[in-house]
Amino acid sequence: MLLPVIIAGGTGSRLWPLSRELMPKQFLKLYTDSTMLQATVQRLQGVNAKTPLVICNEEHRFIAAEQLRQINKLDHNIILEPEGRNTAPAIALAALTALNQGQDPILLVLAADHVIQNNLAFHQAITIATELATAGQLVTFGIVPTAPETGYGYIQRGAVCQNTEQAFYVSKFVEKPNKDLALQYLSSGQYYWNSGMFMFKASIFLAELRKFRPDILACCEKAIANTESDLDFIRVNSGAFAACPAESIDYAVMEKTNLAVVVPMAAGWSDVGSWSSLWEISDKDAAGNVHLGQVFQHSSSENYVFAETGIVATVGLQNAIVIQTKDAVLVAAKDQVQDVKNIVQQLKNAG
Ligand code: GDD
Ligand code: MG
Repeated sequence: MLLPVIIAGGTGSRLWPLSRELMPKQFLKLYTDSTMLQATVQRLQGVNAKTPLVICNEEHRFIAAEQLRQINKLDHNIILEPEGRNTAPAIALAALTALNQGQDPILLVLAADHVIQNNLAFHQAITIATELATAGQLVTFGIVPTAPETGYGYIQRGAVCQNTEQAFYVSKFVEKPNKDLALQYLSSGQYYWNSGMFMFKASIFLAELRKFRPDILACCEKAIANTESDLDFIRVNSGAFAACPAESIDYAVMEKTNLAVVVPMAAGWSDVGSWSSLWEISDKDAAGNVHLGQVFQHSSSENYVFAETGIVATVGLQNAIVIQTKDAVLVAAKDQVQDVKNIVQQLKNAG
């Protein structure tokens, strides 16, 4: 049986000032009337799967529980991390929890902060992936790249998989390459972006983690032993988990394993990692502007302007991001919005 595991412990700092420590982007309504977490659950409708296991920071437990309750997920399960140790430990905790319950399900690991516009294509990719995961592979979902992005993992396509014509063995997985490599990969036509969603049997993922990062697995095993369950929450041992190295699944396992396969997916995927990616996928007016709230623009084009509390106006402004919230304003060049996270760091340093 398929067990969706929703990893929802990121900080979303590039979407400041809307995304905040207390309310990171996975809990915001950024693109539809549902929050990103809710949309992640809702797009599984029609997939034969168990109730998702959500894994997030302890600080966000009531937000996560309330958002799941709002979409009638009353029987939800939430693992709480005392602190974020990145995705390899988070997924290991989920896999260990499933095994502790006497099951070895196929985990469908989903990021809580992606947009997918074509559910049908997404479900078809899941069907293909299920077959491969059942056969013991670690499945990635590949997106045809359109730019030399350095914030993604790159997957080099190898031979076509024997059982299905619709997947390939992975000959190389490179997490977040530099710009030169990203350009090479893009122009070779042999690479996909890693979508950040995965599918594998819980036991196979843990066996690979044991092979490549036994230190991470050992900490997670300690952290999950004797876990306390109260209401819907599964709390891990904070001392044991604090000792766990922070590493993503991409570096810890996917770059190293020989069991990876890639299922190409054309499902209108976007990781909405930054304001410019939100601008790209949003509906625009004839001048290429996206405006939300009370926004007035004159001689302005290709902007993303959001007014939360008051009126925001632009004159003669191009290719810009303007975000106004009740206590902060961001004005940024659209091609430099990856660096918004630097402002968040400055704010942290300033206390
Ligand atoms: N529970 C938990 N704990 N979840 C986490 C943690 C953590 O410590 N850190 C991150 N997450 C969640 C985030 O909320 C997000 O849903 C997902 O894991 C991915 O984390 P990101 O921090 O957004 O990763 P990334 O965007 O830098 O890179 C990953 O995604 C790209 C596609 O969006 C990688 O898998 C790349 O290879 C991939 O291309
Ligand atoms: Mg991301």
